Amino acid sequence: MNIRKPSLFVLCFLLIQFASIAQVVRGPYLQSVSPDQGIVRWRTEQATDSRVVYGESPKKLTKVIELKQAVLDHEVIITGLKPNKKYYYTIGSSKSMEAASEKRFLMTAPKLGSTQAVRIWALGDFGSGTKNQLEVKDAVVKYTKDHRPDAWIWLGDNAYSKGLDEEYQKKVFPIYQDEFFQNLNLYPAPGNHDYAGKHDPSEPPYFKIFNMPVQGELGGLPSGNESYYSVNYGQVHLVSIDSELMEPSGLQVMDGKGAQYEWLEKDLAANKLPWTIVYFHKPPYSKGSHDSDTEKDMLKMRQHVNPLFEKYKVDIVMAGHSHVYERTHPLRGHYGINATFDPAKHVVEKTSAPNQYTVGKEGQGVIYIVNGSGGQLGGQRDGFPLKSAIYSNNKLGGSMILDISKNKLEAVWLGSDGEIHDQFTISKN
Ligand SMILES: [Fe+2]
Repeated sequence: MNIRKPSLFVLCFLLIQFASIAQVVRGPYLQSVSPDQGIVRWRTEQATDSRVVYGESPKKLTKVIELKQAVLDHEVIITGLKPNKKYYYTIGSSKSMEAASEKRFLMTAPKLGSTQAVRIWALGDFGSGTKNQLEVKDAVVKYTKDHRPDAWIWLGDNAYSKGLDEEYQKKVFPIYQDEFFQNLNLYPAPGNHDYAGKHDPSEPPYFKIFNMPVQGELGGLPSGNESYYSVNYGQVHLVSIDSELMEPSGLQVMDGKGAQYEWLEKDLAANKLPWTIVYFHKPPYSKGSHDSDTEKDMLKMRQHVNPLFEKYKVDIVMAGHSHVYERTHPLRGHYGINATFDPAKHVVEKTSAPNQYTVGKEGQGVIYIVNGSGGQLGGQRDGFPLKSAIYSNNKLGGSMILDISKNKLEAVWLGSDGEIHDQFTISKN
């Protein structure tokens, strides 16, 4: 058979065409989505100008935002949106646009103070490139098929092992791109791996890749610092803390003083919503792959910051770091090592049935959860499971789905096998 080689002219033509259509190599992904605005970000292989078109149906993208500067990392803010509304969008440049899709949309956050129920997906220690990471993600895709999450919180160690841009590129973006990055509102926290084991916030790519809502865009107390911030989502106050950040003074949040700690206290004091979840990377209690009896950061967190969580009646403190799942009783005043746990002294709870808590104005203890097996998995230290834990699992990976309405919080730990292995509810009058 005689196959004709393409002429030089045809090759040049194809090359020019290819060069004018810049390949999208990351995203699009949504950042700092609030009730009235959101940021669309993506990366292209060649520098181009940026264009976002959006509208109320994928077939009717009528509004256009253009930024003329040629860049690789595109960042376009869409403003003037209505709360709790779905806007379809797509991305590109003045030369070419990607096709619109049913999966490519921005759902604005509920109006501040709204009592509508929200669903939150909490994922920890995931960007490892493991089979477990994929299975945990697939389980969430399946579980949330008919009721998608409204917001996504990350508990740190988002990309292994140094939080490098290329690690995010290989082990984070491709895994969640299609189902989540292009349509889910993300409020992350960093871990020690994102900081590459250091404490200087000027270094981690994490801060370049993500935009944190630090101006109180979602109703929390403005922090003005991308390491920590809070957002109000429906009836829940979500507080993202940075357990790795060392301030110029040398202080970290677990020292119980310094700018982050002071902001945290003011933020919790200012909160008027019925539910509060504080999340960060290094847990106050764990006997999984890390040991809160011996590791200083965890011990200091427990001694210096837990009293604040208790004072302001935080409902759930969630962390990762330890690559297991551990859920404690509602606790107060347990600042010693595991062996000192005394249920008569430290458990403050009222239940209507096992794992069903009912809370009045006096509050209950704080439920501490380690949810750190979203990719990494396993480990146990002497004393596992924690004496204060109701349920622990270091054999199976998983992540959490929380459904929160005005009077009820329902939490499940969804295993990588697609089954629910732990669940509890908290009811408030
Ligand atoms: Fe960690």
